[in-house]
Amino acid sequence: MLKIKTCLIFGFFLSIINGYSQNQKSLKTAFENDFLIGAALGKDYFLEKEPKATALILSQFNSITAENVMKSAIIHPSNGKYDFEMADKFVAFGQKNKMQIVGHTLIWHSQLSKFAEKITWPDSMRIFMKDHIYTVAGRYAGKIKSWDVVNEALNEDGTMRETVFYKTLGEDFIKEAFLLATKADPNAELYYNDYNIEQAAKRAGALKLIKKLKDQGVKIDGVGIQGHWNIKNLPLADIEASILAFSELGLKVAFTEVDLGVLPNPWDLEGAEVNQDFKVYEKDPMMNPYTAGLPEAIQTQFTKQYEELFKLFLKHKDKISRVTFWGVHDGSTWLNNWPIRGRKNYPLLFDRDYQAKPAFQAILNLKN
Ligand code: XIL
Repeated sequence: MLKIKTCLIFGFFLSIINGYSQNQKSLKTAFENDFLIGAALGKDYFLEKEPKATALILSQFNSITAENVMKSAIIHPSNGKYDFEMADKFVAFGQKNKMQIVGHTLIWHSQLSKFAEKITWPDSMRIFMKDHIYTVAGRYAGKIKSWDVVNEALNEDGTMRETVFYKTLGEDFIKEAFLLATKADPNAELYYNDYNIEQAAKRAGALKLIKKLKDQGVKIDGVGIQGHWNIKNLPLADIEASILAFSELGLKVAFTEVDLGVLPNPWDLEGAEVNQDFKVYEKDPMMNPYTAGLPEAIQTQFTKQYEELFKLFLKHKDKISRVTFWGVHDGSTWLNNWPIRGRKNYPLLFDRDYQAKPAFQAILNLKN
């Protein structure tokens, strides 16, 4: 009897210790009362090609975003033809694992179906948008929790980008897109998503655009600040100002594509023209300095920047719905090939061997 009791007590403590250490090792558990923790998944991940990656994804993240498979060029390759094979598998993976599923993205000028790029008539564009949004958002209604309805509609100075949508329909394409998405899936949360909208001028443009939608009674639930930053110039003050400004409009704020690059950018170079062909840098070792690993000093700077970023997120956790990393680990980040192909970048919390980097522990320590 005594033995059984001792066993039970021992087991009880063991489970506490276990739970505690799991707690210490999991982002999604550590931040469960603050915001969702997401990752963008390329197809190898939701097809579960690599068991180590699957284990990491399941232990760390409670939200997933489609890195590519829901973009129109892939899901809607030609007029009247849809290819849902991969998007269905992505959604099934999320459902199986009870994760919040994010749809990315309905209306975007990049990775846009070729035939849609060629549209010149306003009515043809209206038909495209209606067919696309009803078909895609309609198919996954009830399964996708949140849609990036419109992606990257603004220029850096806050004016409207001259995309094919803008050229055919003017600024109203945004309103149309949100109205169509509301009809296609009335229960999904609808977001406007963009990069650099924490920067003052672009932020002002986004605020103006969203305010106008709200004044017209259009449903928009949140704003996605992408968060493709660099450790050299993480704009903390602008990020904070943006969280406050967007949430004052009654919007949820999500950080939808976080990664902190450590490599030089071509546009940082003196005299480098933004329009220059970055191919010239592909063989330039100055642009790819950490092929043999990340120096200690840079790792420390990287850790510090992530720590500051998450301190800020926690300070405003009541306004933040989700923080999603754009990828799972450094080996497969898009930043190894953008804006210059074939480099070795280190922007995420897990390294090429799926091991947690010091920044991971630094972030978890904020919760202790
Ligand atoms: C990127 C993907 O990560 C790459 O695999 C793809 O080749 C290009 O697009 N902003 C966005 C994302 O909204 O969709 C982009 O994703 C990164 C920038």
